[in-house]
Parts: sequence; structure tokens; C-alpha cells
Amino acid sequence: MSDAHRAEPLKFAYWVPNVSGGLVTSKIEQRTDFGFDYNRELAALAERNGFEYALSQVRYASSYGAAQQHDPAAFSLGLLLATERLKLIVAAHPGLWHPAILAKFGITADLLSGGRFAVNIVSGWFKDEFTGLGEPWLEHDERYRRTEEFIRVLRGLWTRPGFDFSGDFYRIHDFSLRPQPHPVPGRAHPEIFQGGNSTAARQVAGRVSDWYFSNGKDFDGFTEQVTDVRAVAAEHGRTVRFGLNGFLIARDTEAQARDVLRQIVEQADTEAVEGFRAAVRQAGKSTSDGKGMWADSGFADLVQYNDGFRTGLIGTPEQIAHRIVEYKKRGADLILLGFLHYLDDVEHFGRHVLPIVRELEAELDRTGDPLGAGNAR
Ligand SMILES: Cc1cc2nc3c(=O)[nH]c(=O)nc-3n(C[C@H](O)[C@H](O)[C@H](O)COP(=O)(O)O)c2cc1C
Repeated sequence: MSDAHRAEPLKFAYWVPNVSGGLVTSKIEQRTDFGFDYNRELAALAERNGFEYALSQVRYASSYGAAQQHDPAAFSLGLLLATERLKLIVAAHPGLWHPAILAKFGITADLLSGGRFAVNIVSGWFKDEFTGLGEPWLEHDERYRRTEEFIRVLRGLWTRPGFDFSGDFYRIHDFSLRPQPHPVPGRAHPEIFQGGNSTAARQVAGRVSDWYFSNGKDFDGFTEQVTDVRAVAAEHGRTVRFGLNGFLIARDTEAQARDVLRQIVEQADTEAVEGFRAAVRQAGKSTSDGKGMWADSGFADLVQYNDGFRTGLIGTPEQIAHRIVEYKKRGADLILLGFLHYLDDVEHFGRHVLPIVRELEAELDRTGDPLGAGNAR
């Protein structure tokens, strides 16, 4: 665990359901709505139940269970204006946005919300979205080279007047954006999240991102990513924070929770899941080392499109809280959560899981290890 963050309570984010079909590609009943009224109510509820961040995904084309989608930037701005404390993380693709346009949009959203705007820079896996819009689809590692330049430009325009940049993808000449983002003590600019699994994703995170977002992972898989990203960051005299995705199913007994998972997978929308599998394989084929990009995900994993079942937040509140705190010990600063029935599950999380997490964290601060090696289930 990073000592710098040891005393800081874990932060929680939720996936904003801004696309239809919920967070699992399954025909199981999901009491989750992608409309704005539902999301406004959800955001207020999440604020009251321990959530500090909400992430809106970006998807432009009807695909893999997400038949309809709201734009994350516009949707997040709406939610920022409807909330008081929640930070909204907006997903954006280099190659579709120009970094200066996103920087400008971000400044306005940040000012309107008192400094609650953040971005998740996603390098993209969905070739048809790019080619369908007539944009070039770069090879995997080239996409990440563009992402790195994109982030450097974003940060430069948010912090340095008269900013210059000369890259392979972007060129900026003596440019100043005015006004600048809302001043927030301890924050140099709106936070920059970026994620993936591949070596390229880890290197970009180590070099330029504030936060590395991981798809769902078991303990060892997460530790491996943290170790890699920290090594790159250390070479560059930086620290990076870590967010980990997990789909949470809390029930009174472990058997009940596992039964819900079984039903989700049994009722999977097979055609959509197989289509998604083909798309992500295509997108990952050109990684330089074949790592990453859902490389080892099985059918059941892909029913939650960001490998959220792999984090194993499925069981009783007690079991889930122990796992969450074990991830904290392994370097997680933030847990990003998806749910089946958002309004019910977010409240249940705040009432039943979060208090146990906070108790275990307090114990961790006191003793260094409340769980004991291997005690996390
Ligand atoms: C937490 C998280 C959120 C993501 N959100 C989006 C998104 O909204 N839209 C998108 O096209 N890709 C999204 N991605 C996908 C990544 O940009 C990337 O394509 C994927 O993780 C595969 O990365 P890799 O090729 O480095 O393994 C997200 C990834 C993570 C980890």
C-alpha cells in the first residue's frame, strides 16, 4: 500500500448508467434506467451514500447491449448542476475530441460546478465507431502514443499560459485558455484518469496520468498492474493513483449473491457478448506483446464489459468489505462500482458495506493490518 495514501479513506465511484441496458449484457431484470430523471435521483442518492465520483462512459454506436447512449460530457454537466459534491468523470476519446476543445469544455464545466469536473481519457477498442465516423483507426500502441500526447496537451492548456506543443498528433502554438479551471486547493487542474490493461496503457499512466483505471482484476492481477505502473511512474519522479472496477452484488448470504451472478451469466445476451468479444479481440490484436485488452477474459467475464466480476465483490457485506480493503492494501485508492438495480444497490452499499469498510480501514491505520495475510476472502 502506498504510505502517502495510507491514512486516506478509500474513495468510491459508480458507473453512471448513461447507456441503455444496464451494466451487464444480460436479459436478467435490471431496475436501472439510462434517462436523466433517474440519474439525477441516483446522483443525489450516491452523494448521500459515500460516493465521491461518478464515471460516465462514452459509446457512440448502438452496440453490445447498449442500444441507446447519452453523451457523457453533456450528461455529466447536467448531473454536476444537479448535485453539490459529486465529481463527474467524463470519458473522452483522443481521435474524436481535439484536446483543446475538451480542455475548454472542461474549464467551463469545472467553473460551473465549483471544481468538480474530471476526465477519463479512453484510447478506444471499438473500430467500427471510428471507421463509421470516417476517422482513421490507429494500431493499438499508436492509439496510446496519441493518448499520451493528448494528456500532455490537456494538462499544458490547463496549467500553462502561452502553451506550446509539437507532437506527431497535436501541435499547439503559444496558446492560452482563459479563464483557467476553478482553483481547488491541492489540485493542479481537473483530474486526469486513464485506463486499460496493456503494457502501453500502463506506460502512459506512469508517465502522464493522475489516475490509472483498471478493468476488473483478481488480487494478483491488480498487484501486477500496480507494480508495473508504479515502476514507470517512479522513473519519471511521479506518483499515480489507482482506481479498480468491480461489479458489486451484496446479499445476506454468499449463496444468494452467487446465485444472482449465476442468473446474470445464464441469461446473458449471448449474441451481444460474442460480438463484443470479437470487437475487443480485433482491437487488441496489434498490442506489441499480446498483453491486455481482455486477453484472458472468458465468456462469463465479458457479460460485464469491463471484467467487473473478476474483482469478486460478490457475497455478504462483510465479505465484500474485506475484499475491498485487501485491494486498498494492494494499492487501490478508489473502487469503481457497477450494480444491477442501481437505486436499491447504491443505498444498500452505503448502509451495509461502507460502514464495514470504514471500520476495517480504521483498524488498518491502527494496526497496519486488520485482515492478516490471506484472511481476505
Ligand atoms: C474504467 C474504464 C473505463 C473505460 N471507459 C471506456 C469508455 O467509456 N469508452 C470506451 O470506448 N472505452 C472505455 N474503456 C476502454 C479503454 O479505453 C481501453 O480501450 C480498454 O481498457 C482496453 O485497454 P488495453 O488495450 O490497454 O488493454 C474504459 C476502460 C476502463 C478501465
